[in-house]
Amino acid sequence: SFLRDVLALSDFERKVRPRLPNMIYQYVAGAVETSSAMRNGLDAYCRYGFTPHALTDTSLRNTTTELFGQTYSAPFAIGPLGGAAFVAYRADLALTNAAKAANIPMILSASSLIKLEDVIAANPNAWFQAYLAGDEQRIDRMLNRVEAAGYRNLVVTIDTPILGNREHNIRSGFSMPIRMTPRVMFQSALHPRWLLGTVARTFMFHGAPHFENTEAERGPPMMSRTLRNTVARDKLAWKHIEQIRRRWNGPMIVKGVISPRDAVLCREHGADGIILSNHGGRQLDHAVGPLDILPEIAAEKGNMKVIVDGGIRRGTDVLKAMALGADFTLLGRPFLFAAALGGKTAVEHAIKILREEISRDMALLGVNSPSEIDSSFIKRIR
Ligand code: FNR
Repeated sequence: SFLRDVLALSDFERKVRPRLPNMIYQYVAGAVETSSAMRNGLDAYCRYGFTPHALTDTSLRNTTTELFGQTYSAPFAIGPLGGAAFVAYRADLALTNAAKAANIPMILSASSLIKLEDVIAANPNAWFQAYLAGDEQRIDRMLNRVEAAGYRNLVVTIDTPILGNREHNIRSGFSMPIRMTPRVMFQSALHPRWLLGTVARTFMFHGAPHFENTEAERGPPMMSRTLRNTVARDKLAWKHIEQIRRRWNGPMIVKGVISPRDAVLCREHGADGIILSNHGGRQLDHAVGPLDILPEIAAEKGNMKVIVDGGIRRGTDVLKAMALGADFTLLGRPFLFAAALGGKTAVEHAIKILREEISRDMALLGVNSPSEIDSSFIKRIR
């Protein structure tokens, strides 16, 4: 099939890049300013090597991992990806259906173009990631809607008070909503598979994209007021995390923690978990790589679960993060490129590749469960 030569997660990006207009490719692959934060995330994985434990019987090993009372088939999740339906046809549904089939977590983005009610109807175990402006009433309204839809796990992203400086979007002509400038029309015409398979198909069956999964007032699609309300979140403060904690009964997970100080505050505010992340290098440039700060944060985590993301591309990366104190991991871009290459089938293939890498690495390391790995299996080499 079309996935025959897709052997590693990096193959999805390589294969799908020529099929996407440059602005769409750049939107997914890009970071901010000098891309240092993104590189910090990736490079940190090269600073560690393994010291395996030989001759432990691993014949019964398995990759299943528990998180917030749920047993998943592997220790990684599909992260929240705003605007995913610009990249692949109804991408959020492809992602959530694949996650459901493979029994891993999928987190729906507040900036998705698919209604949050439709995603949980497809996958009752989906998580929801909220972008919240610091307005008590609107936060309550949003949480009411997310709860009524049936979500249990709530992720609150805190590293996006305003949008980072995404120069690549300006250079390549990308915007949300997409503006049909001559350059964008030209790029689109050169990528008929994307134009017909993603854009035309969406319009034909579902109309214009909706930006209505934020606490912003619901309104007609592509309306500037909606977008303005979506982007200005710089009033959000720790008192709102308190408010959300009082209001939300299920697990509350704070995403975008990248300092030990904030990890402590999350613990003190009753978070059940944090996602240690620099947003894939897409917000504050020169933010440290999550893996670099992980040992310090793991020391402060108390009962919180620590989920790490940014630059994870291999089973060895997942296991390095877990050796340094992570409980779970999360990936963004590779799954979105997979969805663009071949929808749900390709996303399932991506999940399978990563899960098999983890299982193989567990045998080579000498562990029977991902949670068995600890600092005795890893050494800083640079
Ligand atoms: C993101 N990310 C993100 N995070 C979030 O909390 N809400 C969001 O809406 C989005 N949107 C989004 C769109 C796209 C196209 C990308 C690539 C990323 C960040 C994402 O959840 C995750 O933190 C990073 O993608 C992890 O890094 P890797 O795995 O992509 O290297």
